[in-house]
Amino acid sequence: MKLTVTDREGAVHELPAQADDVLMVLIRDRVDNAVGVCGGVISCGTCLVQFEPEEAARLQPAFPDELEMLEALDARPGERLGCQVRMVPALDGLALTVAPEA
Ligand code: FES
Repeated sequence: MKLTVTDREGAVHELPAQADDVLMVLIRDRVDNAVGVCGGVISCGTCLVQFEPEEAARLQPAFPDELEMLEALDARPGERLGCQVRMVPALDGLALTVAPEA
């Protein structure tokens, strides 16, 4: 599978991905190590990523814990926590942008 990530400087990265990979980990390890400070326990918000509407529609809905953090971050529609999204075959080719630092 593949994932297309636009970083905070606007550079585009094509990343290989496997089923069950967590978006935050892929981005942190290969694009921007300022992402994912809390390690994925929904306490930092540094993994916020933005999806165009057609991409956001491909994702599983957020669970309540993620929704609570998105609300605390004043997230806009199409924004999700990268630590709460796992790759599955249906997400092959997914495209996202790393949100600006808060
Ligand atoms: S990694 Fe901290 S909220 Fe996602």
